[in-house]
Amino acid sequence: MSSTKPLSADSAIADWLADPAGNAVLTEMLAQGGQTPDVFKPVRRLAIKRLVKMSRGAFTQEMLDDLVRRVVAGDVPDGTPVAAASVDEESIGDAVTLREWTERLDAGRFTGQTVIVTGAGSGIGRATASRIAREGGRVIAVDVSQERLDEFVADHSGADVVALTADITDDAGVARIVEAAGDTIDGLANIAGIMDDMTPIGEVTDAVWQRVFRVNVDGTMKLMRAVIPTMLAQGGGSIVNTASEAALRGSAAGVAYTASKHAVAGITKSSAFIYGPNGIRVNAVAPGPTITNIEASFGSPLAAGRIQTAMAVMPDPVEADAIAASITFLLSDDGVNVNGVILASDGGWSAA
Ligand SMILES: NC(=O)c1ccc[n+]([C@@H]2O[C@H](COP(=O)([O-])OP(=O)(O)OC[C@H]3O[C@@H](n4cnc5c(N)ncnc54)[C@H](O)[C@@H]3O)[C@@H](O)[C@H]2O)c1
Repeated sequence: MSSTKPLSADSAIADWLADPAGNAVLTEMLAQGGQTPDVFKPVRRLAIKRLVKMSRGAFTQEMLDDLVRRVVAGDVPDGTPVAAASVDEESIGDAVTLREWTERLDAGRFTGQTVIVTGAGSGIGRATASRIAREGGRVIAVDVSQERLDEFVADHSGADVVALTADITDDAGVARIVEAAGDTIDGLANIAGIMDDMTPIGEVTDAVWQRVFRVNVDGTMKLMRAVIPTMLAQGGGSIVNTASEAALRGSAAGVAYTASKHAVAGITKSSAFIYGPNGIRVNAVAPGPTITNIEASFGSPLAAGRIQTAMAVMPDPVEADAIAASITFLLSDDGVNVNGVILASDGGWSAA
C-alpha cells in the first residue's frame, strides 16, 4: 500500500510504514518501548490518529504531533527502514489505500426511546450506549464497574443517561435496572459478557464453566425475562443479544464460552419465534475480533495450538463502534422486519 499524499495524522499506519521517513520515525519510537512495527499489523489500515484513543495513554496526541512534525521537517534518524513487507498486504493488493469507515450519526434515531444497555462501561457496550445517547435516546447504562460508568457519564454530559451499577446475574440488580427504566422499555441491548480461559471439555473447570454461563447465559436470560412484560404491555420492543463468532463455529474460544454463546443464539431464536407476533423483535449480533477490554487467557496448550491454527483466517480486529453500528441497526426501527437473526458482524470471518 502506498500513497502519494504527504504523511499526516489522517494517513493510514500502512502508509506511514511504506514511507521511508515515516517508517524511520515510527520504528525509532517503537524501539524505545522495545517493540517493532509488527505490533501495528492488526491495525495497519487505520489512520494513525486512531491510535491516540485506542492506546489509552501509551501513544499521546503530543507524540503524534511530534511524529508528523518530524516527517514534514525531514528530522529523521539514519538507518535502514524496516521492510514494509513485514506488513503483509499481498492479499489485498498494493495499489490503493482502502477506504476507512467512520461512524456517522443518524440524528434523532432513538429520540423518545428508552434503551437498557448492559456492559455500558467498556468496549462494545460503551460504544453502543454512546451511540444511542448521541442519537437522542434515553439510555439506562448498566455495568458492574462504577468507575467505568462514572467515566462514561462524564464523557456524555448533556445526554439523557441513567447510570446504574448492577450485576446482571443478580435478581435484585435486574429488578433495579427495570425499575430505573420506568413504564416504557423500547430496547434492551444485552452486551455484558465475559470470556473463558480457552480450555477444551477435557480440561474445563466447574468454576470457569459456571462463571461464564452465569454472566453470558443467566444474565442475558434474566434481563430479557424482566423486560418482556413491559414490552408485551406496550405492544412491542426490540432486544439485541450479544453472541460471538463462537456462536457460529467451534474454533473461536474454549468450550465454556462457545457453549454459552450457542445458548445465547438459542435464547434469541426461541424468543423471536414466540414473541414476534406480539411486536417484539429479538436478534443477536455475532461480533468478530474487536478491540475492547475483554480478557482471555490460554489455559490449555492443546486448545491453544488448535485454536490458533483456525485463527489464521481471522480478520483484523475492529473498534467497538463498528459493532455498535450493527447493534443499533438491529435495535432501531430500521430493523423493522428483522427478527430471530444472528447477525455476523465480523468482516466476513464466518464466511471463511
Ligand atoms: N471483544 C471481542 O472481540 C468480542 C468478540 C465477540 C463477542 N464479544 C462479546 O461482546 C460483549 C462485550 O464484550 P467486550 O469485548 O466489549 O468486553 P469488555 O470487557 O470491554 O466490556 C464488558 C463490560 O461488561 C461488564 N460486565 C461484565 N460482567 C458483568 C455483569 N455480571 N453485570 C454487569 N456488567 C458486567 C464489564 O464490567 C465490562 O465493562 C461480550 O458479550 C463478549 O462476549 C466480544
